Amino acid sequence: MKTYRIATIPGDGIGKEVVPAGKAVLEALARTNRSFAFEFENFDWGADYYRANGVMMPADGLDQIRDKDAILFGSAGDPDVPDHITLWGLRLKICQGFDQYANVRPTRILPGIDAPLKRCGPQDLNWVIVRENSEGEYAGVGGRVHQGHPIEAATDVSILTRAGVERIMRFAFRLAQSRPRKLLTVITKSNAQRHAMVMWDEIANQIAAEFPDVKWDKELVDAATARMVNRPATLDTIVATNLHADILSDLAAALAGSLGIAPTGNIDPEHRYPSMFEPIHGSAFDIMGKGLANPVGTFWSVVMLLEHLGEQAAAQQVMAAIERVTADPALHTGDLGGTATTAQVTDAVCALIEKVAVVA
Ligand code: IPM
Ligand code: MG
Repeated sequence: MKTYRIATIPGDGIGKEVVPAGKAVLEALARTNRSFAFEFENFDWGADYYRANGVMMPADGLDQIRDKDAILFGSAGDPDVPDHITLWGLRLKICQGFDQYANVRPTRILPGIDAPLKRCGPQDLNWVIVRENSEGEYAGVGGRVHQGHPIEAATDVSILTRAGVERIMRFAFRLAQSRPRKLLTVITKSNAQRHAMVMWDEIANQIAAEFPDVKWDKELVDAATARMVNRPATLDTIVATNLHADILSDLAAALAGSLGIAPTGNIDPEHRYPSMFEPIHGSAFDIMGKGLANPVGTFWSVVMLLEHLGEQAAAQQVMAAIERVTADPALHTGDLGGTATTAQVTDAVCALIEKVAVVA
């Protein structure tokens, strides 16, 4: 029997509620399955840790989780700690430290979810956004001088490297190739950003030649927002730089009905380091500690985690349970207009997993 070692990092806000819910789902799954088990280790890193220790995670933090098979992350963000500290001190430290260069964000309208586009049915919106996750606008390069003086200057420099663009393009073409429609849209802004984005386009052209069976096109990022709303069915797999994809993926999540549902994986495709899976909703301080958070984004992230471990059947088992639960309005949390609690949704998903158990 294989035992997967999972690090759980709840972080801040509702992360502390949804990560235990995700763990409960993995535990329910393990009870139905004889071919694998999980060994969890929890890490209390985040804003509370920062208040006590002055850092979001210990200096040897990466070493403490380096040997894990995967990481389940909640969120980082606190009203009393500047956002750039919570972000760079924990989540980006892990993403960059473990070179998780592909951020993958699937979006679908799940059964029972009322999505805002009235001309769009569930079959018209089935996307995966691939976000470059190691450089670009989030490269962290820049500086600030003459602070407070009239001559103050500040820069955030976006860096794209040929190696970085080649590897994310190859990843995106490969992912597009694995999906039924074999369709990729490359997001760009090479009309205005005339250096790095022009290189980005050129490299897309070069890598496309390796994937003759994938149909692909290019779309400017601003036009892409309109296309997502007006012609969602023309999109399938989408690849974009770090910031462009950050923005497009919030739009995608909203168009699919709720930010509370959307999952993401920060992936090292080469499996040199553990990959990290998390809901994209953030820490949501307005509802924290009340048991009202929607755990579905975390459950879907658990599905991605299982897929990354190569446990496809188990991933499908969890996804089927999630879709049965979203189909029932009585099990909708507040973000979906319902009154269900985190615990009710979690119990329902766990019960379904155990009921339809395929014991392998
Ligand atoms: C996301 C989030 C983060 C990001 C924030 C919290 C910095 O919006 O995962 O999309 O921009 O990467
Ligand atoms: Mg975002």
